Amino acid sequence: MANQDENFKKVVSHCKEYGFVFPSSEVYDGLSAVYDYGPYGVELKNNIKKYWWQSMVQMHENIVGLDAAIFMHPKTWKASGHVDAFNDPLIDNKDSKKRYRADVLVEDYMEKVEGKINKEIKKAKKRFGDSFDEKQYRETNPRVVGYLEKNAAIAKRLAEGTLEEIRDLIIELEIACPVSGSKEWTDVRQFNLMFSTQLGTVAGEEGKLYLRPETAQGIFVNFLNVQKTSRQKIPFGIAQIGKAFRNEIVARQFIFRMREFEQMEMQFFVRPGEEMKWYNYWKEARLEWHKAMGSPAEKLRFHDHDKLAHYANAAVDIQFDFPFGFREIEGIHSRTDFDLKQHQELSGRNIQYFDPELQENYVPYVVETSIGCDRMFLAAISNAYTEEMVPDAKGKDSQRIVLKLHPAIAPIKCAVLPLLKNKEELTEKAKAIFNKIKFSFNCQYDEKDAIGRRYRRQDAIGTPYCVTVDFETLEENTVTLRDRDTLEQIRIPIEEIEQHVSKGVDMKNLFLK
Ligand code: GAP
Repeated sequence: MANQDENFKKVVSHCKEYGFVFPSSEVYDGLSAVYDYGPYGVELKNNIKKYWWQSMVQMHENIVGLDAAIFMHPKTWKASGHVDAFNDPLIDNKDSKKRYRADVLVEDYMEKVEGKINKEIKKAKKRFGDSFDEKQYRETNPRVVGYLEKNAAIAKRLAEGTLEEIRDLIIELEIACPVSGSKEWTDVRQFNLMFSTQLGTVAGEEGKLYLRPETAQGIFVNFLNVQKTSRQKIPFGIAQIGKAFRNEIVARQFIFRMREFEQMEMQFFVRPGEEMKWYNYWKEARLEWHKAMGSPAEKLRFHDHDKLAHYANAAVDIQFDFPFGFREIEGIHSRTDFDLKQHQELSGRNIQYFDPELQENYVPYVVETSIGCDRMFLAAISNAYTEEMVPDAKGKDSQRIVLKLHPAIAPIKCAVLPLLKNKEELTEKAKAIFNKIKFSFNCQYDEKDAIGRRYRRQDAIGTPYCVTVDFETLEENTVTLRDRDTLEQIRIPIEEIEQHVSKGVDMKNLFLK
């Protein structure tokens, strides 16, 4: 656990130090759970979005894009169920006046129990050495079995309990406020997560608008507009990337849980009765998408929902092993015809599809894939963050921090570095190369500091290639091309730089895996 915390802290401070992510309005001490993306962060985020968009819209003839507004007619959120049911159970501590999510307090308690289990296992591993069988130990050691049974019972009560029962659980487990240590709790109440604002021209409740808590509803209300204008036939999908807003009570774990974040969602419209076939298809397709971008298989897993949302008849999360453990990165939901039917009812408009093959009208079923762009960013960067020993210019071992991002999503693809700063013939040549290759991909010219330090700086932001311009360049028109991961340096003619780098950083590499 301590190790995990340490690693996470390193990732967070790396993001700040190298211009990936800053706390929002930091000059005013920041705004809780709101973050800004810096110069390299915005490049990485844009590349993740590009990869997602191309894999959906460009790679599928039957998926088209949309960019709906953040503000929507307020009835949208009544129809979707968000006004009545988009709630978290909230509890206040009477002494510290701090507000918590009641379920998270219980989950934190369970995590501590899990920590005790891990401690027992670690001790036993040390004691039994190579002959240790963890599975058997978990099933037979009385203390571990006791802890596991305790957690299972708590999880059941949490999933099935009413608000009152969840409060009882908190009291029974003697959970104290992390700030004051007090066990004086209020009742548990439901707290709606939507942010609201006011339309300028209409007074009172009538003019109340919400900042969308998911992008999906913009797709649902545009279903017929898109279907008719793009002449798509079912099955087909609509993809969208955009901001979403949730007034999260628990705001922690950096960009994992934000109040303003970005979603990449695709709604796939299918014939009623065919939704499970497509649900299984998208489940596998999405897992492959993650793997292709460099997330190792062992850091990904499916997690079926214990409790289905009001709109779903099947739902699974893809979880990623973040530095703080396995957590949801993406949801795949079979949303039935709930949303379209609700919009049909509240708007009074007919939202039906005429199926030319079946010669029949129906409200399509929907399979949704929904991934948080910021969570994907955090997954990519924490997976890529590596500390390792490598030989320095003098052949001595030295530590480097390198972001081993997939080259196709790296913020800068190629750095152009004159060997020395104060040799005009080198800097001129390097600038000319930079000005030539910048049309093909994102590159950077850097002449400050010794060459070794510049390599380290490029490693730290994940640049897959460095081109170095030296005295041989002036005579032979060749440069060295350094590979970030292997550290291998090859000598190539200047005319071949673009071809070489383009080949390595091409997004096609992600699709053809
Ligand atoms: N349209 C379905 C939907 O919104 P969700 O599971 O609530 O489902 C989908 O959200 C994804 O959005 C999550 O898997 C997560 O990656 C991302 N997400 C949700 N809340 C978030 C938050 N507060 N901060 C960052 N990402 C979030």
